[in-house]
Amino acid sequence: MKPAGAAALRADYPEGGEVILRAEAIAARVSALGEEISRDYAGRDPLLVTIMKGGIVFLADLMRAVQIPHQVDIMVVSTYPQGTRSSGVVRILTDLSVSIEKRHVIIVEDIVDTGLTLNYLREMLLARRPASLTICALLEKERHRAASPPLDYVGFRIPDRFVVGYGLDADEFYRHLPDLVAIPERT
Ligand code: PRP
Repeated sequence: MKPAGAAALRADYPEGGEVILRAEAIAARVSALGEEISRDYAGRDPLLVTIMKGGIVFLADLMRAVQIPHQVDIMVVSTYPQGTRSSGVVRILTDLSVSIEKRHVIIVEDIVDTGLTLNYLREMLLARRPASLTICALLEKERHRAASPPLDYVGFRIPDRFVVGYGLDADEFYRHLPDLVAIPERT
């Protein structure tokens, strides 16, 4: 097993990166989240909605950990970036393919930073009259942001650092890394 910390053991890891969550720890937590959701949503056939592209890896693992009948759908969304920070301006590139009216919807997000993206999406989806709407975020930055809606399921609270891997990118690279890796902040 590779040590936490230095990420230089694979050539495709970012230089100067530091592993802050290993794949094994992520897998265990995702499995626990799946069990929790399975209990909470028994008999309700929830619809898991993920936000691309960052949520793709999380959804792929979470849906296999949810052991009750459910469906999945995706939205492709992008926030206009400002360096490594999101600006809060959300652009919907591809909308859901199904109606969510009267459905029990769970938004599956990879990371909540400012919370602006989720806030925007939550309001938009609530206007479509789902039976219920909850949020499952794998990662939440430790600093609390007033803009963030309440999170119903959280995988990990992480330090306020720029992270890549497990679906998260820097300039579209590193999404494939199995670990979560913090990289030096860019300007
Ligand atoms: C990232 C991430 C969240 C959002 C969180 O998306 O996937 O959707 O930023 O930031 P916030 O809480 O400050 O709003 P990004 O726009 O980088 O697109 P991606 O999912 O394609 O990586």
